[in-house]
Amino acid sequence: MTRRSTLLLMLVAFVVGGFGYGIVQRKTASAQTSESFGGNIVLGRPTDRSITVNVLFTANQDSVYLEYGENPGLLTQQTAPKQNIRANEPFEDIISGLQPNRRYFYRVRYRAAGQTTFGASAEHSFHTQRAAGSAFTFTLIADSHLFTTQHCDPARYALALKNALDDNPDFHIDLGDTFRTDTITNNSASLIYQQVLNRQIAHRPYFNILTHSVPLFLVNGNHDSEYLYYTKPESGENPNLPLWSTNARLLLFPNPRPDSFYSGDQTMYPGVEGGLRESYYAWEWGDALFVVLDPYWEMPERGGQNWGTVHGDKQFAWFRDTLRKSKAKYKFVFEHHLHGQSRGGVEVASQFEWGGRERNGNFTFPQNRPTWDKPFHDLMAETGVTIYFQGHDHLFARGFYNGVTYVSVPQPGAGPDPTAADYFPGNVGDGNFDAYPASHVLPNSGHVRVTVSPNGVKTDYVTVKLPRDKGTNKTVAYTFTVGQPAAPNSLALVSAGNFANIGGAAESLVSAFGNGLAGAAGATIVNVKDSAGVERAGRVLFASATQVNFMLPAGMASGPATVTVLYAGNPVGTTTYQIETVAPAMFTANGSGLGAPAAVAVRVRADGSQTIEPVVRCTNTGCVPVPLDLGAATDQLYLVLFATGVRNRAQLLTGADVGVRIGGELAEVQYAGAQGDFFGLDQLNVKVPRTLIGRGDVAVIFSVAGRSATPVMVNIR
Ligand SMILES: [Fe+2]
Ligand SMILES: [Fe+2]
Repeated sequence: MTRRSTLLLMLVAFVVGGFGYGIVQRKTASAQTSESFGGNIVLGRPTDRSITVNVLFTANQDSVYLEYGENPGLLTQQTAPKQNIRANEPFEDIISGLQPNRRYFYRVRYRAAGQTTFGASAEHSFHTQRAAGSAFTFTLIADSHLFTTQHCDPARYALALKNALDDNPDFHIDLGDTFRTDTITNNSASLIYQQVLNRQIAHRPYFNILTHSVPLFLVNGNHDSEYLYYTKPESGENPNLPLWSTNARLLLFPNPRPDSFYSGDQTMYPGVEGGLRESYYAWEWGDALFVVLDPYWEMPERGGQNWGTVHGDKQFAWFRDTLRKSKAKYKFVFEHHLHGQSRGGVEVASQFEWGGRERNGNFTFPQNRPTWDKPFHDLMAETGVTIYFQGHDHLFARGFYNGVTYVSVPQPGAGPDPTAADYFPGNVGDGNFDAYPASHVLPNSGHVRVTVSPNGVKTDYVTVKLPRDKGTNKTVAYTFTVGQPAAPNSLALVSAGNFANIGGAAESLVSAFGNGLAGAAGATIVNVKDSAGVERAGRVLFASATQVNFMLPAGMASGPATVTVLYAGNPVGTTTYQIETVAPAMFTANGSGLGAPAAVAVRVRADGSQTIEPVVRCTNTGCVPVPLDLGAATDQLYLVLFATGVRNRAQLLTGADVGVRIGGELAEVQYAGAQGDFFGLDQLNVKVPRTLIGRGDVAVIFSVAGRSATPVMVNIR
C-alpha cells in the first residue's frame, strides 16, 4: 500500500459547501496499481547513491522498467526498459544517481508478452545511506527453516516478516539456515540444479513481504550448503551442491560485492557466476559499521570443530583491517555461528580460532594461527564492537564477554505448534538452552529489532503470535540498550495536499512519516510546540505504524515549531516544521499533488437551476481531466476545488489576497476558506471565464498572500 492513500480514503466523501449541494465523490486510491503484478521484489545493495532491484515474474514480460522519485506518487524518473524478461528469470536493475540520506519511492512497470499497455506494481520505497548522526532501525531473523515443516510454520514466519516490515527498517539481515539446500533430497546424487534453484525461488514470496521496501542482506548458514568440502567424495554430498547453491543465491538475491561503498571478498572463484561469492562484506550506515562473516566456504570438513574451523587467512585479514580502519561510533558483526558449528555464544567465545584458547583455557592461538595478530573476539574487543549477532541455536540469547555483547537471534516462525512438547530446541529444558548457561535466554520465535541513534543502540526481541497462539503479537519479550536510550526517530512532515515540505498553517492538514507511530498498545497523539513555546495537540485523523495524518492546531505562532508524535505515552518521532499564516496546497484526484484536481464543476443556469458535473475521470490507468463545456452564454460554470492551508488568509472578505488564473486568464474567486465539514479541508469556488472556450488542457494556478500552490490541470472544451 502506498503511503499517501490513507488521507485520500479519509476524503472519500465530501460536501460542497458554497452552493448548498450535497455531493459524494469517490476518489481513486493510489495511482494505477495493477492486481495482476505477478512478481515479487528483493531490494539489495543499498548505497548512498543507488539501490539494486531484483524482480521475479511468474509470467513472461516483453518489457520491464522502474519508475522512481523523491515524493510518493511523483515518480518522475525511470530506468531504461529491458526486453524479454522470462518467468522465474530475474529482472535486475540498479537505480543510481540518487541523493544520500533520503527516502525514495519506486514501482515496477511491465508489459506482459502480447500486451500493448504497461501494468504497474504497487508503489514502494527505500532509504539511501543515512548520514552520521541519524537515527534508524534494522531488523534480523535467523534459521527460518522454511519448508522443514517440523521447524517452521509458514504462516508464523510470514507474520514475523510482516512484524519486521512494520518496524520500517532501513534493511533486514537474514542470519542463515535459510534455504537449507542440503535437505532437498535424501539421495544427494540425484539432485539437479533446478531443484536447488526452485528451493530458493520458493523463498521469494516470503521475503517479498518486506523486501519490496526493505533491502535484504543474506548471511550463509551451515545448512545453506556453501562448503567447498562438499565437492569432496568423502562428504557424501552432490559435489555440485556448493556451486549450485552459491549461483542460485547470486541470481536471486543481490548481496553486496566490493566496490566504492562495500568492502568484501575480492577473490574470483572458478565456477561462480560472475566470480565473486558475495558472502562476506561490510558497509557503513549512519553512525554504524556493519560486518558480515562467512565461516563455511573454507571449513575443511562438515561440522568443523576446534582449530579446524576456518574463516581463512584472507577473511581474517579483511575483518581485522575493516574493524581497525572504521571510525564508526557503533560496530555490528553478523554471522551464522562464531565457530560455524557447535552451540553457545559467550560460553564458547574464548575458544579456538574465535577466542584463541583450548577448552581447558590454555591460550594456544600463536601456535595454531601463527600469522594472525589476535583472535576474532579480541579484535572485536580491541576495536569496540558494540554487538555480535549470530543465529544457529534457535533461541534468543544475550551475553557479555570481555567487552563485547553477544546476541543469538531466534527463529522467526518456529512450529508448527510452539506449545507442543516436541517443539524444536529452544524451549526451556530443550537442548540448546543448555549451551547458554552464562546468557539471558528466551525461547522462539520472532525477530530482533535494533534502533541505532546518536545516543545509543536499543535491541528488542519482538515475539510473533498467530491468532491461535497464546499471547499478543509483537510483544517485546526482551530489550536492552547500549549507551543512552534511543532518542525518538526523526519524522518526515509534509503537506497532506501535495506531499511536499512547504511548511504548515494553523488548521492545515499534514502527514507525518516515521516508524512505530501507532499500534494496539495505546493511542497516538501529536504535540505541537510553536516558536513561542506554547504546546497544543494536533487533531489526529488517521494513524498507522508509519504514517499519521493530522490537523495542525489553531492559534500557533509563525516560525519553527517542534512536532512530536507520541504512541502509548512514549515519544516515537519528532521534527521541526515551519509554521506560516498560509501554506496553500491543492488536493488532486490521484493523490500526488499533481495532475487533475480533486474538484467538481457546478453549472448555474439562467433560471437559477444548478447541476453538478465531473471535472476529472479516474480509471485504473490514472486520472484525466474531463472536457468542461461552458454551455449556453447564459450559463455560469464554477470550479469547486479542495485545498488546505488557505483559511487563515487575512482578507477573507475582500478577497484581495487570493488569486486564481485558469489558462492565464484571471478568474473570479467567489469563496476561498474552510470547507466546513472536514477538519482542515479548505474550498475554493472559482468562476470559469468564457474566454477559455476551446482551449483544451489549461493550468489552474492559485496563490494566497503571495504563496502559490502547485498548479493543477483542467480541460475546457
Ligand atoms: Fe538452523
Ligand atoms: Fe545452523
